[in-house]
Amino acid sequence: MNKVLVVGSINMDLVVETAHFPAPGETLLGQRFSTFAGGKGANQAVAARRLGAQVTMIGCVGDDAFGRQLLDQLKAEGIDTRHVRVAQQIGTGVAAITVSQAENAIIVVPGANHALTPADLYAAEAAFAAADVVLCQLEIPLASVEAAAKLAQQHGKAFVLNPAPAVVLPASLLERVTLLTPNEHELALLFACADDDWQQQLRAHPQRIVMTKGADGAWFADGNGQLQHQCAFRVSAVDTTGAGDTFNGALAAFWGNDLANSARLACAASALSVTRAGAQGGMPTREQLLAFIDAQNK
Ligand code: RIB
Repeated sequence: MNKVLVVGSINMDLVVETAHFPAPGETLLGQRFSTFAGGKGANQAVAARRLGAQVTMIGCVGDDAFGRQLLDQLKAEGIDTRHVRVAQQIGTGVAAITVSQAENAIIVVPGANHALTPADLYAAEAAFAAADVVLCQLEIPLASVEAAAKLAQQHGKAFVLNPAPAVVLPASLLERVTLLTPNEHELALLFACADDDWQQQLRAHPQRIVMTKGADGAWFADGNGQLQHQCAFRVSAVDTTGAGDTFNGALAAFWGNDLANSARLACAASALSVTRAGAQGGMPTREQLLAFIDAQNK
């Protein structure tokens, strides 16, 4: 299996379940409060690891109870955390998440994730040399994302960028990306186009962009510029938090497969991930994923 290097965020998710999302000024009684391990980087690392990849994580947590708990959980998953720095005098990242009828609304306070510097990445250069694929998102400073892309390129490694949460990115960074994995809104922002121009953008970047489209699955253009569609798998959703992260972790875990096959596996993994509460709660193991796909084929 692949050696995946994830450079990204590590958050504690503080999750409230409610019957509906509160309007401004409204006070609601929630049904349940839970804490879950989260952060797009950590989620993607866990997704790839459960699917059998060898995973190393570069990130930053605070010297506090959340940071220690999250580090322990990453280690328990079998993820190499030697390059996760414990920063002093800054809190571990948290995400305040409201879940209602399987949908979510998220506010992230980055905390220690924003203390991850390019110097941290250069200090972990050996991890880039050892990886098959480097996976990154945008919950760490942009300078660190750029350093990750440069290091991946210098070591001849694939660089997969999940551009979430969306920001406009410099062309110099986009040029270094092997595969970009936006949703349709992130794609529209990145390429300054209308939401419904996505087909044109995919055709202009064959095999360079896989766009996720929620219940409509995933889309990309093949080597001939023809649009390819992978339908989403139907499941009963409990919590969609982390579905995109599972998709990205799976793409990295199955890196080297042809894109149609990887997109199918990633959509299936992502479907399973929403069947349990918490970003990482429903992420499947490789065996669970293959059994699910087998059952779909019957
Ligand atoms: O993608 C879901 C993740 O976004 C959550 O786990 C939360 O921590 C935020 O980073």
